[in-house]
Amino acid sequence: MSMEATLPALDDFWMPFTANRQFKASPRLLASAEGLFYRSVDGRQILDGCAGLWCCNAGHGRAEIAEAVSRQIRQLDYAPSFQMGHPLPFELASRLAAIAPPGLNKLFFTNSGSEAADTALKIALAYQRAIGQGTRTRLIGRELGYHGVGFGGISVGGMGGNRKAFSASLLPGVDHLPHTLDIERNAFSRGLPLHGAERADELERLVTLHGAENIAAVIVEPLSGSGGVILPPLGYLQRLREITRRHGILLIFDEVITGFGRVGEAFAAQRWGVTPDLLASAKGLTNGTVPMGAVFVDERIFEAFMDGPQGIELFHGYTYSGHPLACAAALATLDIYQREGLFQRAIELEDYWGEALLNLRGLPHIVDIRNVGLVGAVQFASDPAGAGLRGYRIFERCFQQGALVRCSGDTLALSPPLTIDRAHIDHLLETLAAAIRAVA
Ligand SMILES: Cc1ncc(COP(=O)(O)O)c(C=O)c1O
Repeated sequence: MSMEATLPALDDFWMPFTANRQFKASPRLLASAEGLFYRSVDGRQILDGCAGLWCCNAGHGRAEIAEAVSRQIRQLDYAPSFQMGHPLPFELASRLAAIAPPGLNKLFFTNSGSEAADTALKIALAYQRAIGQGTRTRLIGRELGYHGVGFGGISVGGMGGNRKAFSASLLPGVDHLPHTLDIERNAFSRGLPLHGAERADELERLVTLHGAENIAAVIVEPLSGSGGVILPPLGYLQRLREITRRHGILLIFDEVITGFGRVGEAFAAQRWGVTPDLLASAKGLTNGTVPMGAVFVDERIFEAFMDGPQGIELFHGYTYSGHPLACAAALATLDIYQREGLFQRAIELEDYWGEALLNLRGLPHIVDIRNVGLVGAVQFASDPAGAGLRGYRIFERCFQQGALVRCSGDTLALSPPLTIDRAHIDHLLETLAAAIRAVA
């Protein structure tokens, strides 16, 4: 099949987070997917080293999800969720509550991770008011954090490029903790790095500066994905939990990428034994098939709203909150995760994965390798001609050679489907190694 024969005109789709002109001059288009592989429009097999975009945790083309969605669209294509309902989001909420970290058993549904992050921030602010702590309005994020692209998410997010053009319109009263990347002390760690838990203490400084009575919530990704796979140092999340609890500040985990088995267990909160007050999720919730996000809310927070005056308790929601197709996809996805034991998979493969990644050490320009669960990152020294060039060239070469990896600047991120096996891990990393050599 020739590319030219199948390609539509590329002019009119404004592609998200993409160098549009560069892409359209040399497009990379996928046509189908099955199991661990994509197929490109020119008929090449591409091993999916990213689970799409951190979302297809059970691999591609899962028939049960397709069938559940197809049945659902015939039975009930849409139902409003404002002052109306249908059974599926209630059923899904119970199923999610059963796998949630302790106490986080109330669910608010959204359509994306960005909306889940913004929803969590809004619930945190509204809760503080509801319990008579209305002066608690400040929010604290973290450098290099990513919480999607809503105004809330970019305000607490810490990726400069995502904020610059909007700097005059960001939320007021936001501070950022320092990020936890410390290549000097932690390079080539196996699993969580040893050094850096003390960076959580910066929160104490912000409490002293502003007064705890003015701070509503802290939001962090347990493991920063988009910022370049930045891992929490051992003890760091525990310390954040201890400080937030001591000062009556809510702790929000953004588990949009870590949720649904990526680091083992259902959530990073369980894997690392730290329970937040709110938890934002999306992506793996429906195996990436139908857009959906969910905020897990501690029952005490929910009850504070239910104790208030009769009437609408939270003036927030989306036309598609709890959409029937998304719920059907999520329920079928949860069945697969549970039947196939996929929440344990990242733990089973963690040592093999980490070892295979660390074997890349010594290839040209690598300054760090990070790994935990089924997440990995290889960071390169920037090419003197420009930051990000080397990462992009390796990513492009991998695609030409049949593997999808993700580049974020000069860091390549890997997050394969949890259904991957040892042989395909080898295949993925051999392709990456060859690309690194070729581009060096
Ligand atoms: C931690 C985190 N939060 C939020 C988001 C935003 O999700 P979405 O793109 O579905 O809005 C992402 C997306 O990668 C993410 O990694």
